[in-house]
Amino acid sequence: MKVLAFYSIKGGTGKTASAVNLAFVSARSGYRTLVWDLDPQAASSFYFRVKPKVKGGSKDLIAGKRELEELIKGTDFDNLDLLPADFSFRNLDLILDDKKKPTRQLTKLLKPLADEYDFIFLDCPPNISLLSEAVFAASDLLLSPVIPTTLSVRTLEQLKKFIEKHQLNDLQLIPFFSMADRRKKMHRDIMGHLVEKYPEILHAAIPYASDIERMGLERMPLGGYICKSRSIQAYNELWQEILARIAA
Ligand SMILES: Nc1ncnc2c1ncn2[C@@H]1O[C@H](COP(=O)(O)OP(=O)(O)OP(=O)(O)O)[C@@H](O)[C@H]1O
Ligand SMILES: [Mg+2]
Repeated sequence: MKVLAFYSIKGGTGKTASAVNLAFVSARSGYRTLVWDLDPQAASSFYFRVKPKVKGGSKDLIAGKRELEELIKGTDFDNLDLLPADFSFRNLDLILDDKKKPTRQLTKLLKPLADEYDFIFLDCPPNISLLSEAVFAASDLLLSPVIPTTLSVRTLEQLKKFIEKHQLNDLQLIPFFSMADRRKKMHRDIMGHLVEKYPEILHAAIPYASDIERMGLERMPLGGYICKSRSIQAYNELWQEILARIAA
Protein backbone atom coordinates (compact mmCIF):
# COMPACT_ATOMS: atom_id res chain seq x y z
CA MET A 1 0.00 0.00 0.00
CA LYS A 2 1.22 3.45 -0.93
CA VAL A 3 -0.32 6.59 0.47
CA LEU A 4 -0.50 9.52 -1.94
CA ALA A 5 -1.53 12.85 -0.46
CA PHE A 6 -2.95 15.54 -2.74
CA TYR A 7 -1.89 18.54 -0.82
CA SER A 8 -1.08 22.20 -1.09
CA ILE A 9 -1.10 25.02 1.41
CA LYS A 10 -3.08 27.08 -1.05
CA GLY A 11 -6.77 26.57 -1.74
CA GLY A 12 -8.34 25.93 -5.12
CA THR A 13 -5.25 24.57 -6.88
CA GLY A 14 -6.83 21.34 -8.17
CA LYS A 15 -6.12 18.92 -5.30
CA THR A 16 -9.58 17.39 -5.39
CA ALA A 17 -9.85 17.26 -9.18
CA SER A 18 -6.43 15.54 -9.38
CA ALA A 19 -7.13 13.10 -6.54
CA VAL A 20 -10.48 12.06 -8.01
CA ASN A 21 -9.32 11.80 -11.63
CA LEU A 22 -6.04 10.03 -10.90
CA ALA A 23 -7.81 7.64 -8.51
CA PHE A 24 -10.12 6.78 -11.40
CA VAL A 25 -7.13 6.10 -13.68
CA SER A 26 -5.49 4.01 -10.95
CA ALA A 27 -8.66 1.95 -10.35
CA ARG A 28 -9.23 1.42 -14.06
CA SER A 29 -5.70 0.04 -14.39
CA GLY A 30 -6.68 -2.60 -11.84
CA TYR A 31 -5.18 -1.13 -8.69
CA ARG A 32 -7.34 -1.38 -5.59
CA THR A 33 -7.81 2.30 -4.84
CA LEU A 34 -9.29 4.26 -1.97
CA VAL A 35 -9.90 8.02 -1.83
CA TRP A 36 -10.06 9.43 1.68
CA ASP A 37 -11.81 12.80 1.72
CA LEU A 38 -10.24 14.67 4.64
CA ASP A 39 -11.78 18.04 3.79
CA PRO A 40 -14.98 19.24 5.53
CA GLN A 41 -15.93 20.81 2.18
CA ALA A 42 -16.43 17.16 1.12
CA ALA A 43 -15.80 17.89 -2.56
CA SER A 44 -14.50 14.44 -3.49
CA SER A 45 -17.43 12.83 -1.63
CA PHE A 46 -19.70 15.05 -3.75
CA TYR A 47 -17.98 14.00 -6.98
CA PHE A 48 -18.50 10.34 -6.09
CA ARG A 49 -22.14 10.95 -5.08
CA VAL A 50 -21.50 9.74 -1.54
CA LYS A 51 -23.21 11.36 1.45
CA PRO A 52 -20.66 13.40 3.46
CA LYS A 53 -21.41 11.65 6.72
CA VAL A 54 -19.11 9.69 9.01
CA LYS A 55 -20.72 7.83 11.91
CA GLY A 56 -19.47 9.35 15.15
CA GLY A 57 -17.72 12.19 13.29
CA SER A 58 -14.10 13.22 13.67
CA LYS A 59 -14.12 12.64 17.44
CA ASP A 60 -14.90 8.90 17.31
CA LEU A 61 -12.61 8.49 14.32
CA ILE A 62 -9.52 9.89 16.03
CA ALA A 63 -10.45 8.25 19.35
CA GLY A 64 -10.12 4.94 17.46
CA LYS A 65 -13.74 4.03 18.26
CA ARG A 66 -14.38 3.05 14.65
CA GLU A 67 -12.35 1.04 12.21
CA LEU A 68 -11.83 2.92 8.96
CA GLU A 69 -12.98 -0.21 7.16
CA GLU A 70 -16.54 0.08 8.48
CA LEU A 71 -16.77 3.68 7.20
CA ILE A 72 -15.67 2.93 3.62
CA LYS A 73 -18.27 3.28 0.86
CA GLY A 74 -18.24 1.81 -2.62
CA THR A 75 -18.40 4.07 -5.67
CA ASP A 76 -19.96 3.49 -9.10
CA PHE A 77 -16.54 2.34 -10.35
CA ASP A 78 -14.74 -1.00 -9.99
CA ASN A 79 -11.74 -1.08 -7.63
CA LEU A 80 -12.55 2.42 -6.38
CA ASP A 81 -13.78 3.08 -2.84
CA LEU A 82 -14.32 6.25 -0.86
CA LEU A 83 -13.98 7.24 2.75
CA PRO A 84 -16.28 10.24 2.87
CA ALA A 85 -15.67 13.46 4.74
CA ASP A 86 -17.91 14.80 7.47
CA PHE A 87 -18.50 18.44 8.36
CA SER A 88 -17.04 17.67 11.81
CA PHE A 89 -13.66 17.28 10.07
CA ARG A 90 -13.39 21.05 10.52
CA ASN A 91 -12.44 20.15 14.11
CA LEU A 92 -9.74 17.61 13.21
CA ASP A 93 -6.93 19.92 14.30
CA LEU A 94 -8.42 20.45 17.75
CA ILE A 95 -9.12 16.76 18.21
CA LEU A 96 -5.64 15.76 17.08
CA ASP A 97 -4.16 18.31 19.45
CA ASP A 98 -5.70 16.44 22.40
CA LYS A 99 -3.80 13.26 21.51
CA LYS A 100 -0.37 12.39 22.83
CA LYS A 101 1.17 11.90 19.40
CA PRO A 102 -1.06 13.96 17.12
CA THR A 103 1.00 13.53 13.98
CA ARG A 104 0.99 9.70 14.21
CA GLN A 105 -2.79 9.32 14.28
CA LEU A 106 -3.51 9.01 10.54
CA THR A 107 -0.70 6.50 10.12
CA LYS A 108 -2.26 4.42 12.90
CA LEU A 109 -5.73 4.58 11.38
CA LEU A 110 -4.48 3.59 7.92
CA LYS A 111 -2.38 0.63 9.04
CA PRO A 112 -5.18 -1.99 9.03
CA LEU A 113 -5.93 -1.13 5.38
CA ALA A 114 -2.44 -2.07 4.18
CA ASP A 115 -3.58 -5.39 2.64
CA GLU A 116 -6.84 -4.04 1.27
CA TYR A 117 -5.57 -1.37 -1.12
CA ASP A 118 -2.71 -0.74 -3.50
CA PHE A 119 -3.14 3.04 -3.33
CA ILE A 120 -4.76 5.36 -0.86
CA PHE A 121 -5.35 8.89 -2.11
CA LEU A 122 -5.76 11.56 0.56
CA ASP A 123 -7.77 14.57 -0.59
CA CYS A 124 -6.47 17.17 1.85
CA PRO A 125 -7.93 20.53 2.83
CA PRO A 126 -5.82 23.61 2.06
CA ASN A 127 -3.77 25.01 4.95
CA ILE A 128 -0.72 23.95 6.89
CA SER A 129 -1.91 22.69 10.22
CA LEU A 130 -1.57 19.80 12.64
CA LEU A 131 -3.69 17.70 10.28
CA SER A 132 -1.22 18.48 7.50
CA GLU A 133 1.62 17.22 9.69
CA ALA A 134 -0.32 14.02 10.34
CA VAL A 135 -0.81 13.74 6.56
CA PHE A 136 2.95 14.21 6.00
CA ALA A 137 3.72 11.44 8.49
CA ALA A 138 1.22 9.02 6.91
CA SER A 139 2.12 9.63 3.25
CA ASP A 140 4.73 8.22 0.92
CA LEU A 141 4.20 10.87 -1.73
CA LEU A 142 3.04 14.44 -1.38
CA LEU A 143 1.58 15.40 -4.73
CA SER A 144 1.22 19.13 -4.87
CA PRO A 145 -0.67 20.87 -7.68
CA VAL A 146 0.80 24.22 -8.60
CA ILE A 147 -1.05 26.77 -10.74
CA PRO A 148 1.66 28.65 -12.67
CA THR A 149 1.04 31.92 -10.83
CA THR A 150 3.14 33.88 -8.36
CA LEU A 151 1.17 33.00 -5.24
CA SER A 152 1.06 29.26 -5.97
CA VAL A 153 4.81 29.24 -6.51
CA ARG A 154 5.25 31.06 -3.20
CA THR A 155 3.29 28.42 -1.30
CA LEU A 156 5.33 25.66 -2.94
CA GLU A 157 8.46 27.35 -1.61
CA GLN A 158 6.91 27.61 1.86
CA LEU A 159 6.11 23.90 1.73
CA LYS A 160 9.61 22.93 0.64
CA LYS A 161 11.09 24.96 3.49
CA PHE A 162 8.73 23.35 6.01
CA ILE A 163 9.69 19.84 4.84
CA GLU A 164 13.41 20.69 5.05
CA LYS A 165 13.13 22.34 8.44
CA HIS A 166 11.22 19.42 9.93
CA GLN A 167 13.55 16.91 8.28
CA LEU A 168 10.74 14.89 6.72
CA ASN A 169 13.28 12.90 4.79
CA ASP A 170 10.99 9.95 3.99
CA LEU A 171 8.43 12.15 2.33
CA GLN A 172 8.74 12.63 -1.41
CA LEU A 173 7.35 16.02 -2.45
CA ILE A 174 6.26 15.90 -6.08
CA PRO A 175 4.85 19.11 -7.51
CA PHE A 176 2.97 19.21 -10.79
CA PHE A 177 1.33 21.94 -12.82
CA SER A 178 -2.40 22.32 -12.55
CA MET A 179 -4.81 24.54 -14.51
CA ALA A 180 -1.94 25.44 -16.79
CA ASP A 181 -2.87 27.74 -19.66
CA ARG A 182 -0.10 27.85 -22.23
CA ARG A 183 -1.87 30.69 -24.06
CA LYS A 184 -0.84 32.91 -21.15
CA LYS A 185 2.71 34.21 -21.30
CA MET A 186 2.95 34.37 -17.52
CA HIS A 187 2.03 30.68 -17.22
CA ARG A 188 4.62 29.70 -19.83
CA ASP A 189 7.30 31.84 -18.18
CA ILE A 190 6.62 30.56 -14.65
CA MET A 191 6.52 26.95 -15.87
CA GLY A 192 9.86 27.34 -17.63
CA HIS A 193 11.44 28.97 -14.60
CA LEU A 194 10.08 26.40 -12.12
CA VAL A 195 11.15 23.38 -14.16
CA GLU A 196 14.70 24.71 -14.03
CA LYS A 197 14.53 25.46 -10.32
CA TYR A 198 12.73 22.24 -9.31
CA PRO A 199 13.68 19.40 -11.65
CA GLU A 200 11.45 17.07 -9.61
CA ILE A 201 8.31 18.69 -11.09
CA LEU A 202 6.38 16.19 -13.19
CA HIS A 203 6.51 16.76 -16.95
CA ALA A 204 2.82 16.26 -17.61
CA ALA A 205 0.79 19.38 -16.82
CA ILE A 206 -2.95 19.39 -16.23
CA PRO A 207 -4.39 21.99 -18.60
CA TYR A 208 -7.00 24.55 -17.68
CA ALA A 209 -9.92 22.82 -19.36
CA SER A 210 -13.68 23.06 -19.42
CA ASP A 211 -14.16 19.27 -19.47
CA ILE A 212 -12.46 19.12 -16.04
CA GLU A 213 -14.59 21.99 -14.76
CA ARG A 214 -17.68 20.03 -15.75
CA MET A 215 -17.03 17.44 -13.03
CA GLY A 216 -19.26 19.46 -10.72
CA LEU A 217 -22.21 19.01 -13.07
CA GLU A 218 -21.52 15.41 -13.98
CA ARG A 219 -20.64 14.43 -10.40
CA MET A 220 -18.13 11.81 -11.45
CA PRO A 221 -14.45 11.58 -12.40
CA LEU A 222 -13.56 12.93 -15.82
CA GLY A 223 -12.99 9.42 -17.19
CA GLY A 224 -16.60 8.56 -16.31
CA TYR A 225 -18.03 10.93 -18.95
CA ILE A 226 -15.19 11.55 -21.45
CA CYS A 227 -13.18 8.89 -23.27
CA LYS A 228 -10.62 10.95 -25.09
CA SER A 229 -9.39 14.50 -24.58
CA ARG A 230 -6.29 16.51 -23.85
CA SER A 231 -7.20 16.45 -20.13
CA ILE A 232 -7.66 12.66 -20.10
CA GLN A 233 -4.28 12.29 -21.77
CA ALA A 234 -2.65 14.63 -19.24
CA TYR A 235 -4.01 12.63 -16.27
CA ASN A 236 -2.89 9.35 -17.89
CA GLU A 237 0.62 10.72 -18.44
CA LEU A 238 0.75 12.15 -14.93
CA TRP A 239 -0.24 8.76 -13.49
CA GLN A 240 2.48 6.97 -15.46
CA GLU A 241 5.05 9.46 -14.15
CA ILE A 242 3.82 8.98 -10.58
CA LEU A 243 4.09 5.17 -10.93
CA ALA A 244 7.62 5.59 -12.25
CA ARG A 245 8.57 7.77 -9.25
CA ILE A 246 7.12 5.17 -6.88
CA ALA A 247 9.09 2.41 -8.57
CA ALA A 248 12.34 4.43 -8.62
N1 LIG B 1 -7.65 21.73 -14.75
C1 LIG B 1 -8.74 22.45 -14.48
N2 LIG B 1 -9.30 23.23 -15.41
C2 LIG B 1 -10.38 24.00 -15.13
N3 LIG B 1 -10.96 24.03 -13.94
C3 LIG B 1 -10.45 23.26 -12.96
C4 LIG B 1 -9.30 22.44 -13.17
N4 LIG B 1 -9.01 21.80 -12.01
C5 LIG B 1 -9.93 22.20 -11.13
N5 LIG B 1 -10.80 23.07 -11.68
C6 LIG B 1 -11.90 23.78 -11.02
O1 LIG B 1 -11.32 24.69 -10.10
C7 LIG B 1 -11.99 24.65 -8.86
C8 LIG B 1 -11.00 24.20 -7.76
O2 LIG B 1 -10.57 22.89 -8.05
P1 LIG B 1 -10.41 21.80 -6.90
O3 LIG B 1 -11.65 21.74 -6.09
O4 LIG B 1 -9.93 20.56 -7.52
O5 LIG B 1 -9.25 22.51 -6.06
P2 LIG B 1 -8.77 22.18 -4.57
O6 LIG B 1 -7.32 22.47 -4.52
O7 LIG B 1 -9.21 20.83 -4.17
O8 LIG B 1 -9.59 23.28 -3.74
P3 LIG B 1 -9.69 23.36 -2.13
O9 LIG B 1 -8.39 23.95 -1.67
O10 LIG B 1 -10.88 24.25 -1.91
O11 LIG B 1 -9.89 21.97 -1.62
C9 LIG B 1 -13.17 23.72 -9.03
O12 LIG B 1 -14.30 24.47 -9.35
C10 LIG B 1 -12.77 22.85 -10.20
O13 LIG B 1 -13.89 22.43 -10.93
MG1 LIG C 1 -10.30 20.19 -2.50
